[in-house]
Amino acid sequence: MLKLPGLIDPHVHVREPGGAHKEDWDTATQAALAGGVTIILAMPNTQPPIFDEATLKFSLDAAKQKARCDYGQYLGAGPNNADIAAALAPKAAGLKMYLDSTFGELRLDDMTLWTPHFQKFPKSAPLVMHSESRTMAAAILFSAIHDRPIHIAHVSLKEEILLIKAAKEKGIKVTCEVCPHHLFLTKPSPLRPSPSGRGVGGEGRTEVRPRLATQQDVDALWANLDVIDCFATDHAPHTIEEKDSENPPPGFPGLQTMLPLLLTAVDAGRLTFDAIIQKSVINPRRIFNIPEQPETWVEVDENAVYEIKAAEGFTRCGWTPFEGWKVKGKIRKVVLRGKTAFEDGKILAEAGYGRDVRE
Ligand code: DOR
Ligand code: ZN
Repeated sequence: MLKLPGLIDPHVHVREPGGAHKEDWDTATQAALAGGVTIILAMPNTQPPIFDEATLKFSLDAAKQKARCDYGQYLGAGPNNADIAAALAPKAAGLKMYLDSTFGELRLDDMTLWTPHFQKFPKSAPLVMHSESRTMAAAILFSAIHDRPIHIAHVSLKEEILLIKAAKEKGIKVTCEVCPHHLFLTKPSPLRPSPSGRGVGGEGRTEVRPRLATQQDVDALWANLDVIDCFATDHAPHTIEEKDSENPPPGFPGLQTMLPLLLTAVDAGRLTFDAIIQKSVINPRRIFNIPEQPETWVEVDENAVYEIKAAEGFTRCGWTPFEGWKVKGKIRKVVLRGKTAFEDGKILAEAGYGRDVRE
């Protein structure tokens, strides 16, 4: 039996408010515990988004009632909320900025709207960027100009990881994360048969932003693991009906499958156990200023081989892009602050047991 600290996932879409049919604080934190994750940081692109005092309070109240693991809630950067966001910073996990195409109230149409956030959000707290490709280069330039840390979400391309490597070598305060789906999956070939046999050939199930990339991109991520600070799921549940519809929304669930996939990579000699602890515990704790969780650990049966099945998932979305994958390393037990929170497939922590990492 292998013992490791509880994992921190800095990138989770909880869907509350506005999308509880996909997920809520209860089911997201159940999936987290079943995946060996004891802290999740929740993204603000809910409906409505979390971007002022009232919406932050709504989310934190819901979390207080329902969360079964510990948590933080990001604020979203909008065109007009830089002062409000800066004032609320102590209560938030950080500030999320959507710099590529986003709709609704978190849309930042031009770079003049980035400046107030870079100037006003406390430098001790991270600005997390959804910035793909050339937008990432612009975000890194802003970090250098304003001399403040940024954290780049879900790096997926070779050009991106090489850019971040070069920026770090210049001393720019940039950190980054990579998601399991960008490490283990590639862009689907147009001839690939439908995984579901439903909908428009099931292609909806491969839709995610950033998109799945080429083998060359995936290889570059693996070759530059030392540049990657964190693993993050970007757990973005949408129901199976939504994914198989004419207009499939992008996003994959990931909370329950990240650690088994990473442990399988350790078994294959592609990753070290220490790298998992560094990128899923030590680095996220430092980057996001997260307190240690006393008496918290995860017990894993290193040698147990099993197949990933959506039917065993706690997420409400009802599917996984890793259906049928054979993995080695099964999470047996999770102890959170002295209490057994998950054991042998059962969630034992009650709704409301989770704590806000900022309280
Ligand atoms: O695939 C994605 N899903 N990318 C995003 O940026 C948003 C997310 C979601 O909220 O569904
Ligand atoms: Zn996301």
